[in-house]
Amino acid sequence: MPNITYISHTGASRTVDVLQGDSIMEGAVQNNVDGIVGACGGNLQCATCHVYVDAACLPTLDPMDPDEDSMLESAAAPRQMNSRLSCQIRVRPEHDGCTVRTPESQ
Ligand code: FES
Repeated sequence: MPNITYISHTGASRTVDVLQGDSIMEGAVQNNVDGIVGACGGNLQCATCHVYVDAACLPTLDPMDPDEDSMLESAAAPRQMNSRLSCQIRVRPEHDGCTVRTPESQ
């Protein structure tokens, strides 16, 4: 299983195995990783799964679709160039070793 590292705004780090096909949000919620809420269950209606994706992982991601782009404008924390909604990132083998950082607020 690919492993994903989640780093909180305080610097706390957790690395968990995430099933291929699950989202990075689901990997966090299923493993009780702090900093990702996933209130809408991955339906692009909450932006509480906002993450900042480390540069090394960005090239492995699919392009953002317009609905994700729009919902990111509602995120509680400032949007950055590497902001994504983690419910929209389905884990594949090439994501193994990816790191995402969680914002201070969701
Ligand atoms: S979990 Fe709600 S938009 Fe991602």
